[in-house]
Amino acid sequence: LFPWAQIRLPTAVTPVRYDLTLHPNLTSMTFRGSVTISLQALQATWNIILHSTGHNISRVTFMTAVSSQEKEVDVLEYPLHEQIAIVAPETLLEGHNYTLKIEYSANISSSYYGFYGISYRDESNEKKYFAATQFEPLAARSAFPCFDEPAFKATFVIRIKRDEQYTALSNMPKKSSVVLEDGLVQDEFFESVKMSTYLVAFIVGEMKNLSQDVNGTLVSIYAVPEKIGQVQHALETTVKLLDFYQSYFEIQYPLKKLDLVAIPDFEAGAMENWGLLTFREETLLYDANTSSVADRKLVTKVIAHELAHQWFGNLVTMQWWNDVWLNEGFATFMEYFSLEKIFGELSSYEDFLDARFKTMKKDSLNSSHPISSSSVESSEQIEEMFDSLSYFKGASLLLMLKTYLSEDIFQHAIILYLHNHSYTSIHSDDLWDSFNEFTNKTLDVKKMMRTWTLQKGFPLVTVQRKGKQILVQQERFCLNVKPEIQPSDASSLWHIPLSYITDGKNYSKHRSVSLLDKKSGVINLTEEVQWIKVNTNMTGYYIVHYADDNWEALIKQLKINPYVLSDKDRANLINNIFELAGLGKVSLQRAFDLIDYLRNETYTAPISEALFQTELIYNLLDKLGHVDLASRLVNKVFKLLQSQIQQQTWTDEGTPSTRELRSVLLDFACAHRLENCSAAALKLFFDWMASNGTQRLMKKSLDGDLIRTQKLSFIIRTVARHFPGHLLAWDFVKENWSKLVQKFHLGSYTIQSIVAGSTHLFATKAHLSEVQAFFENQSEATFRLRCVQEALEVIQLNMQWVEKNLKTLTYWL
Ligand code: BES
Ligand code: ZN
Repeated sequence: LFPWAQIRLPTAVTPVRYDLTLHPNLTSMTFRGSVTISLQALQATWNIILHSTGHNISRVTFMTAVSSQEKEVDVLEYPLHEQIAIVAPETLLEGHNYTLKIEYSANISSSYYGFYGISYRDESNEKKYFAATQFEPLAARSAFPCFDEPAFKATFVIRIKRDEQYTALSNMPKKSSVVLEDGLVQDEFFESVKMSTYLVAFIVGEMKNLSQDVNGTLVSIYAVPEKIGQVQHALETTVKLLDFYQSYFEIQYPLKKLDLVAIPDFEAGAMENWGLLTFREETLLYDANTSSVADRKLVTKVIAHELAHQWFGNLVTMQWWNDVWLNEGFATFMEYFSLEKIFGELSSYEDFLDARFKTMKKDSLNSSHPISSSSVESSEQIEEMFDSLSYFKGASLLLMLKTYLSEDIFQHAIILYLHNHSYTSIHSDDLWDSFNEFTNKTLDVKKMMRTWTLQKGFPLVTVQRKGKQILVQQERFCLNVKPEIQPSDASSLWHIPLSYITDGKNYSKHRSVSLLDKKSGVINLTEEVQWIKVNTNMTGYYIVHYADDNWEALIKQLKINPYVLSDKDRANLINNIFELAGLGKVSLQRAFDLIDYLRNETYTAPISEALFQTELIYNLLDKLGHVDLASRLVNKVFKLLQSQIQQQTWTDEGTPSTRELRSVLLDFACAHRLENCSAAALKLFFDWMASNGTQRLMKKSLDGDLIRTQKLSFIIRTVARHFPGHLLAWDFVKENWSKLVQKFHLGSYTIQSIVAGSTHLFATKAHLSEVQAFFENQSEATFRLRCVQEALEVIQLNMQWVEKNLKTLTYWL
């Protein structure tokens, strides 16, 4: 009988050090392993429970520190929980140390998870083998038996046996390399710092590298030999970012080396393994001649993100996966923050703003969840925590806090937090405690931030002017499928930093802010104003609704001189008014009236948000067959942006922001075949159409031969975006569902994105029932997935939007 029934491991025994030797065979896709674990008993116990899955265990021995005599012991397995139990030959005594040695063999994984193998063809079409690891969140246990929970930190010594033509890399620098009698080479790496199992990594393959020393840390970028010419940009970027983070956090990066490796096939975008960052080729490699400015941005962002994890996540780690936002939210926040500080020309604030819009849309659904949630145990639940809310709501809340407290206090609190908790693991509250050390009891950051992390959704703030008084009120912003039913948590309250500007002389320049921590409140101005704009630069995570007169005054201001407001504020107004129209709080007519000023808009953020919102409406109309209305909508929008579109050229000049604007405008113009979409683009398009441009993309990508499978979710989403493709994509997902789940795992980010991407434009009852029936017929776990519930809710909201607004829209158009 297996002696442990829970998913979480007992805490009686804790690992101190792992000594791991691996011998992979890349062609037979198998490996042999041996792991020696030094343990300490924190309480007296008879058995040792740890994780292991897919291992063929041949021998387990046990040793006490005093006797140093090996005893062979029995092992029990419990595959359902991926656990094994070692029954010790004697009671383990509190405070004593023991050693466990496990010898085993296993398959190298053919998914993208665990210790996995891939093959690819090089320039001369020769087949090559490559093996890498992706352990986060729960796959270290499939490479070696271990205590696979983030709070069990230990040190690791890793040895790898390989054929001589390969390079082997791991978290730490190489200590020695010896040729064994059978011609194999064994590399040994230095003992690691104290770290979580999910950050352990090793790679075996043919690679080249380019390196540079940064104050005693050797930074290297690795790629397969034929792509070594594309690593220069990554190296320069990493060197700058490493410098920046070390001085911002006032903590040196602790390892002597930092490797960034472009893996030929990789599911995620990138992974922050300590000292051995892994990437897709497209998120690390950059070729100045052929890569676009979007590629450069992507590479810079991804490096900034994974490097930030070396502090947030690696040095200080969440206790458990329910708080994964502490890792991902912080890394995402630091990604935008560092780019803004040292790569200002990339205008990444535009992307962050856009990400906040999209995140709030997701968070306004009833199927949303708090970013720090309490019931996370199963592997699906853990994978589901890696969703855009953990990343972007997390990052948005940190932005809100930074803006409210000031950059200086924010930085000092972070430095304190990192210093106090280095090499340990923490809860969200530990972070807020560090902030409270700096607010001198004038503000309880913990109390404030818990209102944002422990409840789902965000507030809708309603603003009314009464002379010099501004009345404000909060309620939950909820796109409810059945509006007549109040959300159960209608009474929820947030502590909201209300920042604002007005047209009054005293308010337009300096920042004004007051905290709303009750249902309603009053802001007293020193003068009467024409208009007030709340949530300056949209640094706050909430939507604002105004009384009619204030909307009118804001619309008027935009028409007279939009530049009194920042581009972030203008984009924010556009976003808020369209979201409010979706809720039925303002008429769609007023939303269109607001964007009438776009004729004079030259900035990227407001234009791309307006195009995004109007395209959503267009897509609904188009897919329902309201062809005439759809084209009239396009004409209206075209009239607004005509002059900007006509100014565009088919060149690739200007700042990244200018190029982004060019791209959204020409994309719009070309998608709708508007007059000025240049003949060159049409010609390119028709040439492609004529050259057998059928839809083999999805199939080919699933095969993984011609197109890598890592691209599949992107391809499905792209195919689904246009009318001829949206049914095709959904059919493809249905037909290949079991293969997709096998490759990408139920609940994973990839599966979430495939489900959302292939269903989010459906807006009919028939489609709703079809999607529902399909997922119901899969396993219960499938139907329960949050992304499935979200998909169903989105379809219903689409139906409801059309029902509510089609009439007004028809009239207005
Ligand atoms: N830690 C994640 C990778 C990851 C994601 C592991 C999901 C397990 C489950 C990594 O830091 C990350 O966030 N990668 C992003 C790219 C990043 C730039 C946003 C990704 O893979 O999409
Ligand atoms: Zn991350």
